[in-house]
Amino acid sequence: MPSVAHLVQGLPRLGAWLRGLPRGRAASVAASGPWGLDDIPGPSGPAFAAELLFGGGLGRLHELQLRGRAEFGPVWAARFGPVRTVHVAAAALQEQVLRQEGPWPERCRLSPWTEQRRRRDRACGLLTAEGREWEELRSLLAPLLLRPGAAAAFAEPLDGVVRDLVPRLRRRRGRARAGPPALVSDVAGELYKFGLEAVAAVLLGSRLGCLEEEAPPDTAAFIRAVGSALEGALLAMVVPRLLPGPRRRLERDWDRMFSFAERHLERAGGGLAATLLRGPMSPESVLGNVTELLLAGVDTVSNTLSWTLYELSRRPEVQTALHAEIAAALPAAPRAPSSAAALARLPLLRAVVKEVLRLYPVVPGNSRVPDRDIRVGRFVIPRNTLVTLCQFATSRDPCQFPSPDSFCPERWLSGTAVTPAPAPHPFASLPFGFGKRSCVGRRLAELELHLTLAQILLHFEVRPEPGAAPVEPMTRTVLVPARSINLQFLDR
Ligand code: HEM
Repeated sequence: MPSVAHLVQGLPRLGAWLRGLPRGRAASVAASGPWGLDDIPGPSGPAFAAELLFGGGLGRLHELQLRGRAEFGPVWAARFGPVRTVHVAAAALQEQVLRQEGPWPERCRLSPWTEQRRRRDRACGLLTAEGREWEELRSLLAPLLLRPGAAAAFAEPLDGVVRDLVPRLRRRRGRARAGPPALVSDVAGELYKFGLEAVAAVLLGSRLGCLEEEAPPDTAAFIRAVGSALEGALLAMVVPRLLPGPRRRLERDWDRMFSFAERHLERAGGGLAATLLRGPMSPESVLGNVTELLLAGVDTVSNTLSWTLYELSRRPEVQTALHAEIAAALPAAPRAPSSAAALARLPLLRAVVKEVLRLYPVVPGNSRVPDRDIRVGRFVIPRNTLVTLCQFATSRDPCQFPSPDSFCPERWLSGTAVTPAPAPHPFASLPFGFGKRSCVGRRLAELELHLTLAQILLHFEVRPEPGAAPVEPMTRTVLVPARSINLQFLDR
């Protein structure tokens, strides 16, 4: 795979967008301090906006993190639409930001998603709520999702979905007009359906039918709305308010997702939603949370699975070792909870997932809005400033991870020749975020990843599409494959 660093260097210098303060200024700023917001170097406003809107920059925000750091150093500022945001692209500095969090960490003020909730009189879920409302929701959801052992309750419903994925993949083989008979086209598309089916089984206690030959049309519409809302969130933030198109589209997407969740919630047989409805949360709030959790369940786990299979297909020796590790750990006819517990202890499986999330962090740029002035390196960042945590840049930082663009799960296994010494900074790769506001679905996601990878590898050897060019990532709020990933699934 061509190195991202190489790719970025090779991009034609857009000259204009980087014509802010030169690197020399960044270096002199670092020599003294503290400095204020206006001293932070960065690209000129109009040129950066043009890059975002007309240069395809929104889809390449992850690459712009690398370019910004190369040009201005680890702290640089840019205008994202009406908002000035400070990018922080070094692990130690991100740690400083996150350790200065207040009692109600805020991810993004002016989020167009939150605005939709206000305009449509809908309740926020955990993803979009802020302040005391967020704290209340978190205190109700975290025990159900994050408490040690809580995710084990989801192993049975997840296992049923995972087992249906295997025949589904078999049926999808050989449908492409060209290519070998075992080829499955658009693996990510298949896995979005699987992701929705899996998260619905956990949340609603019922099956939607996404893995059947003819998936119900409303499930396909929901998946499209998720993709569109993730893409549209960025666009709606940058496009001036005078042009209402992107905001209207976003509202339509969320309307679609809310009515989908509402319909299925009425029929829900159990699952997490039923537990929430029996508790102190209002029905409107349950709906807001179920809608947001359904969205969170679609693109996150699915893309991680797609990238994992893609990388394993390109490193057959790692795939062979992983298959052997999984086959040895699972008894012949395992029950889901015990196989989930066994899988969670497998070192290579854990290392593979960690490495995939380092290379392709689902959220390439997280954010915080500090509730007081905070010191970050030489700079004082005023309260209420949007701080972008450049996770893509830190997790591909060559100072933290030698050969940062290579898929190398061995780096997470102690005692191997490639284990970096010293170990990387603990904040260099933080795929699930940090602190009170970190991913509430983490345990569920890990469980789903382990169970699914185990089933796929036990049944198939996954090989690349012959002659296919490498697939690069693209940003649409989350990191997704820029084009279809096609893979061969050969029966073992
Ligand atoms: C590989 C899978 C996943 C990754 C890498 C991931 C990553 C993240 C990250 C980086 C955040 C922001 C954390 C922060 O700001 O510090 C987040 C938040 C969140 N995630 Fe996940 N996520 C994944 C799967 C899921 C799943 C399956 C669900 C639920 C079904 C979920 C639900 C949420 C929610 C509700 C939040 C907001 C938490 C809050 O604000 O309190 N995530 N996730």
